[in-house]
Amino acid sequence: MERQPYVTFYDEYGASLTSRHYDDVSGFWQARTYLFLSLGIIPTFLQGRSVLEFGPGTGENATYTDSLKPSRYVLVDGSREILETCSSRLDSSGSSQVEREFHCCLFSEFRTEEQFDVVIAEACIPNQKHPLAVFRHMQSFVRPGGVFILTTVSSASWFSEIVRRLVKVQIASRVTDVDEQLEWLEDRLRPHFSVLNGMARSPRNWILDNLVQPYTGGQLFSIATVLEDLKGGWMLLGGSPRFLQDWRWYKEYSNQAKVTNQQLLEAYYGNVANLLDRRRSPESHGRDSGAQIESWTTSIWERLIHQESIGEFDLRWVYKEGVELSKLIREVSPLTADSLSEAIRWIKAECPKEELRFFPGWWGRGQQHISIARIG
Ligand SMILES: C[S@@+](CC[C@H](N)C(=O)[O-])C[C@H]1O[C@@H](n2cnc3c(N)ncnc32)[C@H](O)[C@@H]1O
Repeated sequence: MERQPYVTFYDEYGASLTSRHYDDVSGFWQARTYLFLSLGIIPTFLQGRSVLEFGPGTGENATYTDSLKPSRYVLVDGSREILETCSSRLDSSGSSQVEREFHCCLFSEFRTEEQFDVVIAEACIPNQKHPLAVFRHMQSFVRPGGVFILTTVSSASWFSEIVRRLVKVQIASRVTDVDEQLEWLEDRLRPHFSVLNGMARSPRNWILDNLVQPYTGGQLFSIATVLEDLKGGWMLLGGSPRFLQDWRWYKEYSNQAKVTNQQLLEAYYGNVANLLDRRRSPESHGRDSGAQIESWTTSIWERLIHQESIGEFDLRWVYKEGVELSKLIREVSPLTADSLSEAIRWIKAECPKEELRFFPGWWGRGQQHISIARIG
């Protein structure tokens, strides 16, 4: 059977792979509240509304949405075990006022005539084989006046993870046993996780999900792709992080979505370095640097996954590219450039056990959340 992004791997490794730390419920819900507010959604707005969620995973996030008492909550996930965990979680701890419905199917197979006030697709559009088609399919379930919350990933925001994936390729060239690879990666990457506050799952699960999970033809899906695709009748509502600004006076609003989205795209490319490295103090930079970084990191990602898909481990090309790319990155973010140079040197030396100064602390803003409203 054809391997599906996420679903096949999760079926093999079990539902625990998608589960999130959930011991501090009030801290968890506080973070969700902050996320909803950043997306321009006042949590009480959900009361009595209808919600459709794609890819809820084991449902930790869904407990928050459920607690806001939508009248109807439909959840769609392609993994039976994951969906069952989600459904028993909500049935045991959710609100009795919510009418829930669970559908186990692939996103592309989900059909209904119904449209919803809120559609959610968190951490599940990027890495689909055809993310834009999946996005448009999901968008069709938003009713006029409703909102769509989704997650995006760009090659720049994901680049620190892409470089960590090089570490995986480097070890895979010498060690074939997956458990051994995992143990080795956990050991070498331990200092990388210790700098992350608020990590929602174990390093082992993160490594399995992001580095070991075999490539299944999935594609990245960036804010720029969404903006370029948005038709009239849709507008960007909010985001986390929030950096896209719309300076129009509300009375000047017209249905010129393309013009506005063009301005938002300028703002997007002017902030690529902030997606690339979360340590950077977030002033914006020239649009062209952002576009070049995005395009260069995309070409590295595409070449790497092609190489993985044919089982080739020679990384010499990326050592050269990495050196050139770090010169470009230095213009906008010297600390990131130092981190990339150090990572390349270390990987080239087969990742010896040694203390590194820059690479372990380098994390981008992996995935972003955005909300788009259907106004027409
Ligand atoms: C990475 S998890 C995200 C879970 C949760 N939304 C979160 O943010 O923590 C992705 C979820 O989407 C489901 N999924 C991914 N691709 C799918 C597809 N094409 N069809 C159906 N379910 C899919 C997976 O089974 C998994 O539960």
